Amino acid sequence: MSDRVMWFNGACVPWEDARVHVWDELALRGANVFEGITAFWNADGQRHEVLACDAHLDRLYHSARIADIPAPPRAEVVAALTEVAAQLGGSDIYLRPAFYAKRGRSTLAPDSEGAMYIGGFPFRPSTPPAVRAIVSGHRRFGGPIGAQAKSGGSYLDFRVFERERVEHGVEHVFFLNDRGHVAEADGAAILLVRDRRVITPSVDSGVLDSITKRIVLDLARGLGHQVEERPVLRDELYGAQVVLAGTLLGLRTVHTVDGHAAEDTGGAETAATLTGEYDRLCRGENPLAPTYLAPLR
Ligand SMILES: Cc1ncc(COP(=O)(O)O)c(C=O)c1O
Repeated sequence: MSDRVMWFNGACVPWEDARVHVWDELALRGANVFEGITAFWNADGQRHEVLACDAHLDRLYHSARIADIPAPPRAEVVAALTEVAAQLGGSDIYLRPAFYAKRGRSTLAPDSEGAMYIGGFPFRPSTPPAVRAIVSGHRRFGGPIGAQAKSGGSYLDFRVFERERVEHGVEHVFFLNDRGHVAEADGAAILLVRDRRVITPSVDSGVLDSITKRIVLDLARGLGHQVEERPVLRDELYGAQVVLAGTLLGLRTVHTVDGHAAEDTGGAETAATLTGEYDRLCRGENPLAPTYLAPLR
């Protein structure tokens, strides 16, 4: 079985053969939208169970509408994802479909033309022994595309945060929005756990509406926790157990933010319970699993 698979121009191709032209809108202006989707191997059923597939595909099309990128029919995307999953074989996998513009500065251009590619590889999440985070010195301002779209062009911002991350020798950089409130991390939503409360920046804080976060909030409500979606102040990060939530990361407990160790507010225990339940859900072992896991269709 191949380690990584690429679907491009209608079929799975050798990874190196998925080439685009430098003058394609994809390269010229970063005109693409994408998703990251995980699928867990169900050995009993001999099939992949995809986590929140509909939500990811809905968001992909929503991103395409926001960023004005041509989108192929949904059945074509599902068929291509199924082909990539089959090529990857019987393991947990990560699928990254992308729609992009080849030609046309908008979909209204007479020569507008789009295409799709899907990269896929085995999903083997790892947890670093210490998870340290800093708050970036830069704020992230929303343009017309904003944080709700997963678009290549707007993700250029993350190069700046990544440089900061490496320079400071930490695992994550959090960034603030234009109002100075907590937004998110690169590739993950931020959750704060205090006592039995789970707090997360509201969608109007300039964040992607993380699907992993939605699942965790659902789990938290089911466990009787109070959930608060609201603007979050920077200093609140220093008095709570911070947990990151993202498709690729899963749930990851953060040990320090700007050098402040997570306070013992009872949050650590709740964070551990939520992480355990999220992992069980991915394996089909939590009562909410049927709501979120389904074969590709
Ligand atoms: C900027 C950003 N925020 C949050 C997330 C987490 O979102 P999700 O849980 O839907 O993967 C991601 C990853 O997709 C992301 O890129």
